[in-house]
Amino acid sequence: MKTIQLGKSGLQVPAIAVGCMRINGLETADAERFVQSAIEEGAVFFDHADIYGKGTCEEIFAKAVNMTASIREKIFLQSKCGIRPGIAFDFSKEHILTSVDGILKRLKTDYLDVLLLHRPDALVEPEEVAEAFDILHSSGKVRHFGVSNQNPMQIQLLQKSLKQTLVANQLQLSIAHATMISQGLLVNMLDDNAVNRDGSILDFCRLNDITIQPWSPFQYGFFGGVFLDNEKFPKLNAKIDELAEKYGVSNTTIAMAWLLRHPANMQPVTGTMNIQRLKDCIKATEIRLSKEEWYAIYLAAGNILP
Ligand SMILES: NC(=O)c1ccc[n+]([C@@H]2O[C@H](COP(=O)([O-])OP(=O)(O)OC[C@H]3O[C@@H](n4cnc5c(N)ncnc54)[C@H](OP(=O)(O)O)[C@@H]3O)[C@@H](O)[C@H]2O)c1
Repeated sequence: MKTIQLGKSGLQVPAIAVGCMRINGLETADAERFVQSAIEEGAVFFDHADIYGKGTCEEIFAKAVNMTASIREKIFLQSKCGIRPGIAFDFSKEHILTSVDGILKRLKTDYLDVLLLHRPDALVEPEEVAEAFDILHSSGKVRHFGVSNQNPMQIQLLQKSLKQTLVANQLQLSIAHATMISQGLLVNMLDDNAVNRDGSILDFCRLNDITIQPWSPFQYGFFGGVFLDNEKFPKLNAKIDELAEKYGVSNTTIAMAWLLRHPANMQPVTGTMNIQRLKDCIKATEIRLSKEEWYAIYLAAGNILP
């Protein structure tokens, strides 16, 4: 598996991360097969969140990986906190610390490689986050920190108080949800897709060496469904299928190769629980689409160019 540097962490991590949000949909034996196969394929970076399956996803994963000290050393574990379902968002010191203790217990580990703050909290007090991060870092419970779904100003506001450099920002990005790319191509135009919804987060992350982790790489809308083999996207699928045939790979591989072709060196987070599809995603690290192919896919998704 190809590796990339995760922000300024100094960590060399797999170019594809395995998201575990849907692992609670698997039977125990299937979860074990899936996790073990991922590790065999070199997909050893696993993405979690305290809220996935109300904590059951982390528990199922720990069981499936059969966590021991020697296995722990071979894998990277990332989790997230800050969403409190039914309540709201909470970046308070108390919530961050309590949440991480719960995560470590469920994952059966002493430390996280990376902790992300899941979604912006309007009532964030950066000094409080800094206190929590200091405690987690000095106790060895968390080695690196990042955010998710945050814009440049929100990151800068946090970073002003933090001792630790934020290394990752997990954001929704797929061929069918590429607003952070389209607004950069349509600067100052009247088209709706020119609206800068994220404060130029793509350029900000590149400027600051923050790794973007695209989530839902195969979905359109907000969990609208998968765009591959979907009759709502005839032109896009025709283009992807054409390139899949050219390269002798599946349409899944081409859709993933499109994200990996972006020079920002992103680390997409897969969601599939299907071993063959995960292998197809990993295969994409061996393919480099040409600029012409990348733009042809972008246009086939219904995007426009000036
Ligand atoms: N930070 C955030 O706010 C946030 C939000 C959402 C998700 N995430 C993270 O991102 C990860 C991925 O999200 P996601 O699950 O929505 O992503 P996804 O990879 O876009 O979607 C995966 C789903 O699509 C299905 N699928 C159908 N055809 C597929 C194909 N050809 N290729 C790939 N998948 C196909 C998969 O089913 P099969 O299992 O049958 O293949 C699975 O149910 C999550 O696990 C989580 O770690 C983060």
